[in-house]
Amino acid sequence: MIGRLNHVAIAVPDLEAASNQYRHALGAKVGAPQDEPDHGVTVVFIELPNTKIELLYPLGEGSPIQSFLDKNPSGGIHHVCYEVEDILAARDHLQSTGARVLGDGTPKIGAHGKPVLFLHPKDFNGCLVELEQV
Ligand code: CO
Repeated sequence: MIGRLNHVAIAVPDLEAASNQYRHALGAKVGAPQDEPDHGVTVVFIELPNTKIELLYPLGEGSPIQSFLDKNPSGGIHHVCYEVEDILAARDHLQSTGARVLGDGTPKIGAHGKPVLFLHPKDFNGCLVELEQV
């Protein structure tokens, strides 16, 4: 059911330092910061030949990234995102296997302007999983 790895998201305590590290030390193509107020994050996209990396930094009060950084002060992998062709069919199938979908189960529009859902990390080996319809 799942297709390509769309991105790996990494929460970072210093967005400018992390961007510069990817740009200069790792030699990657690094975009400009984008505020995503609906998700409580500022995102920097990094284009790799086969996938993307998203650097996540807290935006506003009650950002989910702030609580993640409180537990992981030096940052860490926050989630992985897999592509699906039909997000509602994927949701229904996953729920039929007992997997929990976060929120009310209705897809939200994600950082790429496409519908996304998140799956409970406790159901996926401690890893928050995002599904994106492509
Ligand atoms: Co994501």
